[in-house]
Amino acid sequence: MNYQLQCIECRALYDPDEIIYTCPSCGGLLEVIYDLSAIDFRKTDECRSVWKYKALLPVNIKPVTIREGGTPLYHIERLGEGMEVREIFVKHEGLNPTGSFKDRGMTVGVTKAIELGMKTVACASTGNTSASLATYAAKAGIPAVVLLPGGKVALGKIAQALIHGAKVLNIRGNFDEALRLVREVCDEYGFYLLNSINPFRLEGQKTIAFEIADELGWEVPDRVILPVGNAGNISAIYKGFKELKELGVTDAIPKMTGIQAEGSRPVVDAIDRGLAEIVPEANPETIATAIRIGDPVNAAKALRAIRESGGLAISVSDDEIISAQRDLASVEGIGVEPASATSVAGLRKLVAEGLIDADERIVCITTGNILKDPTEVVDVCAKPLEVDADIDAVRRAVFG
Ligand code: F0G
Repeated sequence: MNYQLQCIECRALYDPDEIIYTCPSCGGLLEVIYDLSAIDFRKTDECRSVWKYKALLPVNIKPVTIREGGTPLYHIERLGEGMEVREIFVKHEGLNPTGSFKDRGMTVGVTKAIELGMKTVACASTGNTSASLATYAAKAGIPAVVLLPGGKVALGKIAQALIHGAKVLNIRGNFDEALRLVREVCDEYGFYLLNSINPFRLEGQKTIAFEIADELGWEVPDRVILPVGNAGNISAIYKGFKELKELGVTDAIPKMTGIQAEGSRPVVDAIDRGLAEIVPEANPETIATAIRIGDPVNAAKALRAIRESGGLAISVSDDEIISAQRDLASVEGIGVEPASATSVAGLRKLVAEGLIDADERIVCITTGNILKDPTEVVDVCAKPLEVDADIDAVRRAVFG
């Protein structure tokens, strides 16, 4: 085995077979580290997918996979018209098997659960993590338990968790409370915790960085912009870019730029105020329920990713989110859920505020599919026209 677990704070090293999610010595977050000199990383023409990059994934058994990754990187031109930016790409993670980037983490995380002999998997979720976990647990043939903030999870995500057979608990509380509870339940019953505090799950998500570089001919963009909720994905993607650079495959690291919703912006506040740690937001609120998170568990990793890469963090309003979501759909044919649209809403705001260089090549990540949240879509769009089953009525409606 050429990898270990390491605490990002005190640097203590741990055996990767230990069931730990934070440092037993200082409580810091853990990450998987590799002996990169022993890694045979090849640039091949093989079709892009999470498992194309298995040389840099911490798994030794046959993966539990339903073909995740390999999502399109669209060069968008019309939506970028009028924006003083060299090139804009959108990587549409909503086209993963369950409709979000979480599948990259779960194919690795659930495989790890099997490898470690764990019998039940569990998570707290604003929706997508639970949909993905339920699906991969079904594929692996093991039970999943998911804790959701009751009344605040989009319909499509609940439907997925239910049909794939998870035990679904609606907690009378928010995501941060659900996460605290599931951590206790996992400790008590030996369930395997697959929130993004699990360092193996984040290894799967770092393949977003590999695919972006791969598709750009092993060059990296100047900036990657993405939504931040529990702050795992921005940390994972940064780690992926760092590993490519350390391997000598690429020669730079993009400026990691995190976007939060105005009502839920602890990471943005910490960056703005130069704080070493976030101050949790007790009552986060936003239409982008996927990132309605006040106490992101990976904040320490995310703050480093943003600071070390020279990136930025800003927040956008619900109206800005809805307008970016509508434009992505109606101008570029890219259907995303509200949280995902924050990346493009954030790009627009950064350009308007003059915080982006005109010669930057930018990748915005859209993290979840539009079908996840049909209720929000119906609420923000014009209603269908009610028309009699009569040709004149149809003519009047079409041309009216
Ligand atoms: N976008 C979507 C669509 C998400 O579902 C999430 C997180 C994020 C962005 C933020 O990613 O947490 O790594 O910073 N959803 C989690 C969940 C919290 O439970 O599905 P992050």
